[in-house]
Amino acid sequence: MKSAVILSALLFALSACGNKPPSYDAATGGNPQRGREAIVSYGCGACHKIDGIPNAYGLIGPSLQDIGERSYVGGNLPNSPENLEAWIRHPRQVDPHAAMPELNVTEADARDIAAYLYHQ
Ligand code: HEC
Repeated sequence: MKSAVILSALLFALSACGNKPPSYDAATGGNPQRGREAIVSYGCGACHKIDGIPNAYGLIGPSLQDIGERSYVGGNLPNSPENLEAWIRHPRQVDPHAAMPELNVTEADARDIAAYLYHQ
């Protein structure tokens, strides 16, 4: 049992080192590779620090590097794929005073972006 935990931690660490994200994420059903492209094209990196995204050093919003470790996202939403995607699509529906703008992210793109963020 314990060795299985260590092995999966090792595999996770190894996969985190690779440059190319996986093409499928079970938690979200999204495609982290496409999510990476979507993050670049929506320009999320202008405001956020995100691992593995060129020029994603923005400091306007919080770093997204450890988003998988957070208990809450976007203030008070419990961290789940559904809630993360809801925030990415409509931050101002979650919190009308959110500083993050509505970026017209599609449902499919939000799923892929969440998949990438949980895998970076
Ligand atoms: C104009 C700057 C800006 C852009 C562009 C932007 N964000 Fe944000 N984002 C913010 C700010 C500021 C916050 C902090 C919460 C708030 O709005 O008050 C935030 C919060 C978040 C959070 C919650 C973080 C946490 O710690 O709970 C996530 C996830 C997120 N953004 C993802 C994205 C994604 C994905 C994109 C691209 C589709 C994006 N953001 C684009 C400014 C931005």
